[in-house]
Amino acid sequence: MSKLKIAVLVSGSGSNLQALIDAAACGSIQGQIEIVISDRPGAYALQRAEKHGITAACIDKKSYENKIDFDIQLFNRLNEVQPDLIILAGYLSILSSELIEKYRGKIINIHPSLLPAFGGKGFYGEKVHKAVIESGAKVSGATVHFVDENTDTGPIILQKAVVVLYGDTPETLAKRVLAVEHYLIVKAAELFCSNKLKQEGLNVRILRE
Ligand code: GAR
Repeated sequence: MSKLKIAVLVSGSGSNLQALIDAAACGSIQGQIEIVISDRPGAYALQRAEKHGITAACIDKKSYENKIDFDIQLFNRLNEVQPDLIILAGYLSILSSELIEKYRGKIINIHPSLLPAFGGKGFYGEKVHKAVIESGAKVSGATVHFVDENTDTGPIILQKAVVVLYGDTPETLAKRVLAVEHYLIVKAAELFCSNKLKQEGLNVRILRE
């Protein structure tokens, strides 16, 4: 089976990117990471990509006067690669509807909660874990889902729960959730690249491995 072309979009540390790089290197994902694009220059994820010889590009959102110009730049950069799969691995900008339309069913996102709980606008990174702890919820987790026009609402591919412990801080909970994210994002990429995911409306069927 030929390898799919993967583009990974990032904004921060890139620990999820690292999990993908490691899985691709050991051949568990039938895909190759062609490019990593960050929307901010300081993202450590860019260094991780460069270290592994992967093209690392920064499209600095702050350097654009309006979001439309930024969106066009990202759209064009991705089109140069023509990825089969786009993975949002801690990417914090909202994708344009043109990008979502063009790559519908080919964009997946990792989110640090059990969606549909603690998702949507304003729920990202540690803010999610803070809200979970403040709510008194006993269980949180992580979700990988296909991306649609709304924030964190697309068809769910995989989820895994993480118990919220008494005395957890956003930092301690984030650490345990992140370990689960690394497993889920790799698993979802493996399934996608081996054509084992079938979307049926809001449901995603996982074909037998
Ligand atoms: C991860 O926890 C990811 O789920 C979250 O940002 C973190 C990035 O970590 N994404 C969101 O909150 C998106 N709504 P990483 O840079 O170490 O992979």
